[in-house]
Amino acid sequence: MKTTLNIKEIRDSFPVLDQQVYGKPLVYLDNAATTQKPLCVIERERDYYLHENCNIHRGVHYLSQKATEAYEHARQTVANFIHAKEAKEIIFTRGTTESLNLLATSFEHIFLSEDQQLSTLNFQLSTDSKPSTLNSQLKILVTAMEHHSNLVPWQQMVQRHQGQLLVVPMDDQGVLDLEQYEKLLKESPKVVSIAHISNVLGTINPVKQMIAMAHQYGIPVVIDGAQSIAHHPIDVQDIDCDFFVFSGHKMYTQMGIGGLYGKAEWLEKLPPYQFGGEMVDTVSFEKTTFNVLPYKFEAGTPNVGAALGLETAIYFLQNLDRKAIEKHENQLLQSAIQQLSEIDGIRFIGEAEQRSGLVSFIIKGVHPYDLGTLIDKMGVAVRTGHHCAEPVMTRFGIPGTVRASFALYNTLEEVETFVKAVKKAAMMLR
Ligand code: ALA
Repeated sequence: MKTTLNIKEIRDSFPVLDQQVYGKPLVYLDNAATTQKPLCVIERERDYYLHENCNIHRGVHYLSQKATEAYEHARQTVANFIHAKEAKEIIFTRGTTESLNLLATSFEHIFLSEDQQLSTLNFQLSTDSKPSTLNSQLKILVTAMEHHSNLVPWQQMVQRHQGQLLVVPMDDQGVLDLEQYEKLLKESPKVVSIAHISNVLGTINPVKQMIAMAHQYGIPVVIDGAQSIAHHPIDVQDIDCDFFVFSGHKMYTQMGIGGLYGKAEWLEKLPPYQFGGEMVDTVSFEKTTFNVLPYKFEAGTPNVGAALGLETAIYFLQNLDRKAIEKHENQLLQSAIQQLSEIDGIRFIGEAEQRSGLVSFIIKGVHPYDLGTLIDKMGVAVRTGHHCAEPVMTRFGIPGTVRASFALYNTLEEVETFVKAVKKAAMMLR
């Protein structure tokens, strides 16, 4: 492992960064949307398709066995990376959104079957009972800063049963109100699902504390790690989350691959989400039994090439000092905040003390979309809009923000170019 970051060397591994847009050097600051991919990841997938491509878990032939071994090796690498106890606790999915939909759907089946048992009992006791509706009100607890992916699947699920989404509020800095959280836990939500880091505000939530609080009430906790896994070391056993979900494309690998970590005892309890392929044990026209973990949750042919890319991205990160990455990205953030503060009429959206490397803001009299479009012409790529978190915009009473999000390959010079572009665009637009 290298103990210092050589940013020039790192940048050389990302060929996409070395280009001009509209005749200006590209400054890529949209890393919360997706990170760029290093050559080693691109080459790993290419290599797989050049020399190893095969369907897995089903062929007796050489290539199929090699591909199966490589895929299962990648699973073990992911488990080690986030410090899961066992590889079977890692399910490969298409990404964070699919992982969360899997959880919401599987939990819904558990609640329904628990409730049906209760209803059958009640039905025997009273003729008024209606076995088809949930007896107890179904509640799920999320926070006010969730991405739609950690909100809509739960919302749709509770609404199907006249249930309720409980929402932990936040203050004007973008910090969660833990007193309210404690009160909401007393309302007996079935699941707590919270962002590790807000994709709009950059707030790093105190997840270890929040998980411990929920566990006192016996409530399982899902952590949405989409914005944390590439930027901070993750230890699922230390924080003691029941589930942790993430996307590969936000951690320097391909789109279409990601993961769901779940404690084995929870994954054993949850029913499968999709059906077909290797997720079965035995099938007849009358009945199907399901495979063991982790295969029970992996229906259909998986994205083997991308799983190997994900493993390579993990090796790439493990070869660097993760603490040095955190420090570097924090320097970029502090520099951006300090320089942007000089702009008249700027309002930062998200000012928590515990912040990750992204900054969201609006400027009085300037529409975020116009600003983003103008600085794009100066070579600077940022995201504008609601960032798939509309309730956050409503909370702050704004239509959207301009968001710059940093990755390990960004430089202080790029931050300077970005701020200069923002100042220039603001002047032109006001
Ligand atoms: N979730 C991604 C973002 O925040 C797409 O930009």
